[in-house]
Amino acid sequence: MAFTIKVNGTIHNVDVDSDTPLLWVLRDVLEMTGTKFGCGKALCGACTVHLNGAATRSCITSVDSIGSAEVTTIEMVGTTTAGAAIQKAWLDREVVQCGYCQSGQIMSATALLANNPKPTDGDIDDAMSGNICRCGTYLRIREGIKQAAQSGGRED
Ligand code: FES
Ligand code: FES
Repeated sequence: MAFTIKVNGTIHNVDVDSDTPLLWVLRDVLEMTGTKFGCGKALCGACTVHLNGAATRSCITSVDSIGSAEVTTIEMVGTTTAGAAIQKAWLDREVVQCGYCQSGQIMSATALLANNPKPTDGDIDDAMSGNICRCGTYLRIREGIKQAAQSGGRED
């Protein structure tokens, strides 16, 4: 079946089954492999993307449910103000260890900061609790989010 989806500002026509998860469309059809597969059951957060700015698990989001929503992935989130601030903080704080979970972490953190420029610890916990990191980078993730918030979401 043919679907038209907008990913990172570009319209794509994809021919897949209607129940195909967005994650597979991104990785296998559009060859955007920055978004990772972890559990496939909305339990780990590795596959997180934005749908109209909201953090969304792409492994359980079928392509036929997207409609006209704008999809943003890790490949382009750095072009947003919040995304750039989060990525800079991630580098400054050396958040990443193996890196496998970090696309999802950055997408969830960016959605948080874009919607809540001054998140409390509780806000951070709520927004990030669904993103699992087997390397245990949670403290640096929290520091990174706080640094990005203190920068006012700016890159400098
Ligand atoms: S792969 Fe989607 S939440 Fe784990
Ligand atoms: S950095 Fe290795 S799983 Fe998170």
